[in-house]
Amino acid sequence: MCGIVGYVGRQPAAPILIEGLTRLEYRGYDSAGLAVLGSSGATVVRRVGRVRELEAALPKRLAGTVGIGHTRWATHGPATEANAHPHSSEDGRISVVHNGIIDNAGALRARLGAEGVTFSSDTDTEVLAHLVARSGAGALEDRVVDALEQVVGTYAVAVLDADQPDRVVVARNGSPLIIGVGDREMFVASDVSALVRHTSSVVHLDDGELAVVTAKDYRTFTRDSHDTGRVPTEIEVSADDVEIGAHGHFMAKEIAEQPETVARMLRGRLDTRFDTARLDGLNLSPRELRAFRRVKILGCGSAYYVGELGALMIEELARIPAHAEAASEFRYRNPIIEPDTLYVAVSQSGETADTAFAVREIKRKGGQVVGLVNVVGSTIARECEGGIYLHAGPEIAVASTKALTHMGVGFALLALLLGRVRDLSVADGQRIIAGLERLPADIEAVLADEERIAGLATELSSADSLFFIGRVRGYPVAREGAQKFKEISYRHAEAYQTSELKHGPLALIEESRPTVAVIPDDELTDRNLAAAEQVLARGGRVVAISHPGVDLGPLDDRRVDVPRNEVELDPILLMIPMQLLAYHAAVALGLDIDKPRNLAKSVTVE
Ligand code: F6R
Repeated sequence: MCGIVGYVGRQPAAPILIEGLTRLEYRGYDSAGLAVLGSSGATVVRRVGRVRELEAALPKRLAGTVGIGHTRWATHGPATEANAHPHSSEDGRISVVHNGIIDNAGALRARLGAEGVTFSSDTDTEVLAHLVARSGAGALEDRVVDALEQVVGTYAVAVLDADQPDRVVVARNGSPLIIGVGDREMFVASDVSALVRHTSSVVHLDDGELAVVTAKDYRTFTRDSHDTGRVPTEIEVSADDVEIGAHGHFMAKEIAEQPETVARMLRGRLDTRFDTARLDGLNLSPRELRAFRRVKILGCGSAYYVGELGALMIEELARIPAHAEAASEFRYRNPIIEPDTLYVAVSQSGETADTAFAVREIKRKGGQVVGLVNVVGSTIARECEGGIYLHAGPEIAVASTKALTHMGVGFALLALLLGRVRDLSVADGQRIIAGLERLPADIEAVLADEERIAGLATELSSADSLFFIGRVRGYPVAREGAQKFKEISYRHAEAYQTSELKHGPLALIEESRPTVAVIPDDELTDRNLAAAEQVLARGGRVVAISHPGVDLGPLDDRRVDVPRNEVELDPILLMIPMQLLAYHAAVALGLDIDKPRNLAKSVTVE
């Protein structure tokens, strides 16, 4: 959802900006641009398309050591060169890159237009460049404050002034922004992936904060000029974590590394002394954990589907009523917030605006909210009162894979903990711990079957429309399977509860519309099989995601088996073939897997 970079230092800025933008491209890839300050002012280059097209368009000599850059996911105005960032003041002295939405841009455009300003784009961002340019002749940071006083909306911005070429001024309100601290050089970025090759020392800005960043120093402050004195923290992400390595796509890399990342996530979190989970980050005592009467899980898209899985795990293991809801809906319906409900916000990026808003609304109404978040230091992670970091490492492919598996593991740990402070027996605690310990090897075993899954995926890729069906624990798996498939293959894929098939969708079954059926070895196997056989009887084709030893009868030739784990944890493993089916279907179709059309990772606007 738009990526921002900035550099102030002793090296030529352009290559560093281009590298940072390439790392951030997953946040938006409609167009890209940069501004570099040199002896004759700012050189601004913008291009529609990918960062590589911007790079190809750069002039040979672009020697300035201060600059900002942007990769765009269009919100206001189509993806054109004129709408690409940076946006400039009329005299070209001020350059601005922005992530977010300026809600009162219409009114500001009208006012500036009446004052004689000529606009050169359709964007909301351009008003910022003109406001800064028209706010007197003081230090750039004061002029940016002045401009932001007039703005209503969300932003992460970075601003350059050709007359003050030693600095970049940045501000944050609702969109992420960090500063990387180097040796006589500083970096600015939307997230750590853009600067991890240069420094591991990072300053996270809070909403309402600004910073003036020079090569030697930075100063953080609020709009009313109070210094906030933010100090850097060390990040755990390494440069290798954001490299594609030998893989053809980041999605393939992220699928392949799950055995290792899940093992890492579990390290230190399984308490074999008391047969429970150790989740100190929740900041909740056993007494407090016991007091919750309900659990409400909030997330968006795939995170919401895994939240549904989490609710089932919590109900099964802790016997507390639990329910997941799309945060994007929750925030618009004046929800009732109860004091004895544990609210759980689940998010890979920690920046999804709908989920962050839900967190704020819960807190405003006195509710207790914890996070299941991947990105350390992200907005949601910081706004929640405690939480469970997913430790999946950076996820670059737009379609989420490993982070979702980690969410499943995170919910299993939470369910185990909530269960063990209630009625879950020692034996069941041990059983779940043993199951969690087996997960990395079990994931490995699913991945070993990739070739066979790829063959089935190629077959499925020729269908225009598919069904994904599952029941109870299998239903969120089916929802996520359909989501992944449609996101990257652009095929219509619809998830249904297997039990609901006969209440309508059966009418659509025909040979050209295949069904992917989740048929685990559990108390519902026979019912699931009967439903899948009905699909066959109506001329449909079925790929079954199942367990070894399940007699699938006529479905046997198109089956994918995942290892049996514990029944409550099985859905985590059943999601892995869904990732591979989607990935290989998109490979067969020759699509842009890591950057599917119209989508961006981390949706930081409504
Ligand atoms: C699907 C996908 C999205 C995200 C959703 C929430 O592959 O990636 O549906 O799951 O946008 O994002 P986070 O988890 O960052 O809050």
